[in-house]
Amino acid sequence: YDSVERVLDAFSAGDPVLIHDFDDREGEVDLVYPAGSVAPIDVARMRNDAGGLVCVALPDDVAESLSLPFMDEVLTHPAASSHDLEYDSRSSFSFTVNHRESFTGITDRDRAMTISRLAPVAELTRAGEYDADDFGGEFRAPGHVHLLRGAPNLLDDRQGHTELGLALADEADVAPAVVVCEMLDDETGAALPKSAARDYAARNDLAFVDGDRLLDVLR
Ligand code: 5RP
Ligand code: CA
Ligand code: ZN
Repeated sequence: YDSVERVLDAFSAGDPVLIHDFDDREGEVDLVYPAGSVAPIDVARMRNDAGGLVCVALPDDVAESLSLPFMDEVLTHPAASSHDLEYDSRSSFSFTVNHRESFTGITDRDRAMTISRLAPVAELTRAGEYDADDFGGEFRAPGHVHLLRGAPNLLDDRQGHTELGLALADEADVAPAVVVCEMLDDETGAALPKSAARDYAARNDLAFVDGDRLLDVLR
């Protein structure tokens, strides 16, 4: 049973998967969900088991229609530039949001609401039925969920978890909104080693896949 096939099946079913990018890039494993299937218990899994930053990736065309910028292009502060990263030419960060019906925005319930609603929003936006004003009516910024903006030609342009996740969503035929959260090691504080992430996947019956295998199939 091929790991890509298993990852696609899981993603189509709304289950989370684990994606290792590349040894010569971040060398990190992210826990990745289709945004539409995230419930409060999934946010709990991300903060307890993964421990990284909870982010939702949206494709470039959707972000463009919703006027969601790359943060480093709109900030005028001297600190603004993500072009000197050691592992890529730029980050994919846009701004942060909360659903307007959330309270503080950080609780599992609040973040699940913000995250899960982004799936139909992405689909409606693609269908031309939702715009930046609608977005502003439903979400407020800043908030507690980081938005990421995918590269225009996805994996042909950039091979981050942002693009790996969005390409997977396309292939699995789920809404183009994908949650990613880095797996960190509770003992060392470093990125969770690939072997430990594989063990976690096996223990929890989750699919694990390498970026190289995803590139073979999705690009
Ligand atoms: C946001 C990040 C993560 O690395 C996430 O995987 C998205 O970034 P990238 O596309 O660069 O891998 O920095 O927490
Ligand atoms: Ca990163
Ligand atoms: Zn990453």
